[in-house]
Amino acid sequence: MVDLLLRGGTVVDGTGGPPRRADVAITGDRIVAVGEVPATGSARVLDVAGLVVAPGFIDAHTHDDRLLFTDPGMAPKLSQGVTTVVVGNCGISLAPLGRREPVPPLNLVAGGDGPFFESLADYFAALERDPPAINAAVLVGLTTLRAVTMASLDREADAGEIEAMRAHVAQALAAGALGVSTGTFYAPARAATRDEVLRVLEPMRGTGAVVASHIRDEGDHVIDSLDEVIGIARELGIRQVVSHHKVQGRTNFGRSRQTLAHIDEAALGADVCIDCYPYAASSTVLRIDSARQASRVLVAWSQALPDCAGRFLDDLAREWGLDLEGAIAKLQPAGAIYFSMDEADVERILAHPGTMIGSDGLPHDRFPHPRLWGAFPRVLGHYGRKRGLFSLETAVRKMTGLTAERFGLEGLGFVKPGMRADLTIFDADTVIDTATFESPVSPARGIERVFVGGHIAWECGAPTGSRDGVAFRRRA
Ligand code: ZN
Ligand code: CU
Repeated sequence: MVDLLLRGGTVVDGTGGPPRRADVAITGDRIVAVGEVPATGSARVLDVAGLVVAPGFIDAHTHDDRLLFTDPGMAPKLSQGVTTVVVGNCGISLAPLGRREPVPPLNLVAGGDGPFFESLADYFAALERDPPAINAAVLVGLTTLRAVTMASLDREADAGEIEAMRAHVAQALAAGALGVSTGTFYAPARAATRDEVLRVLEPMRGTGAVVASHIRDEGDHVIDSLDEVIGIARELGIRQVVSHHKVQGRTNFGRSRQTLAHIDEAALGADVCIDCYPYAASSTVLRIDSARQASRVLVAWSQALPDCAGRFLDDLAREWGLDLEGAIAKLQPAGAIYFSMDEADVERILAHPGTMIGSDGLPHDRFPHPRLWGAFPRVLGHYGRKRGLFSLETAVRKMTGLTAERFGLEGLGFVKPGMRADLTIFDADTVIDTATFESPVSPARGIERVFVGGHIAWECGAPTGSRDGVAFRRRA
């Protein structure tokens, strides 16, 4: 007996193969048939003619560690058709930080009223006790591990601290983490040398786990920074994910030609892949070096002056009679959006065949970067349909099957019998983001229905309240 039959839709299955007309049958939380399926013998039939039936989108790069608990409906993601998020990116994971003070950039995910987790095992257990609306897969962050094991973060870890961090890595992998993330770009991890990172990641050697990195420098030293992370992964025999690949700063505009060629060449002798968000502006904590690289800076949040969220930094500085540094100091702790990239670089990176889509959305920001609500429909509607950067099936693959393969998310990412029934049904002619830099909190258009584990989680522009997300544990 089939529980639900999606009839007459256009299946774009996540492999990159051409769209085809097919029915999709679901029983329990699984897809049981794809093809021509008779309606008799189905408890429920849904006509989806004229719509695309795709695997639920996988957000390869998120900071939703805490959002999964504080807003388990996950509307920013579900409204885009995202059914799985990879959390714990950029070196910053909520677990195992516990109740320790979250120094920036850990304050992008940690803080507030919690919850707090002393281990990845606790984090997984909490997700399973109180499931969110979508699935989560987890990376453990090296910056978090430094914060947990080191008394001062402005130096390289000593042998004992490295040993302690290694134990955390081993525990996280045993608990089911996909791997580790690093973020040597950020102050609390900047003093971590290549050797420190290599030694801490040692328990990953020979496993199928991945390391995802916010590299040390995405500006002038981008090539050296790529070489650093790719070299570590190669030595350990593990897969390197270069997070939110970009080149920043006017003097580096156009250098994606060089970085992509460099990554392609490295990929001949190492396992390396990239993710990217579809915007020419970045967002993170507010800091002077990032501000100097940008043509303009928009304040995303400020703890000192919350009402400044949504204002441009140069306007504020002028009003206050301060220079940029003075204005930044006045706003701290704070986060910002940096207009720091070349649109042609963004398009070139998105179009690269190995590029997965990750939003990098920052869900706790008062005035968030529009990527939080818009990344996936923007890839489909703006970059795919309007700009013609890639076909529909390639766009879908970049946000589903490719990501599942690269991160080892077995059972996710494809419309095939046996796969989990996470499906996104959308109108390929109208799907588009509506979140902008002026008005960033705005759900996408054209996402008609989203299924998580065989249940409808989003329809008619609203969540159904279902909580069928699972904690994805990597099998060791
Ligand atoms: Zn990052
Ligand atoms: Cu990030």
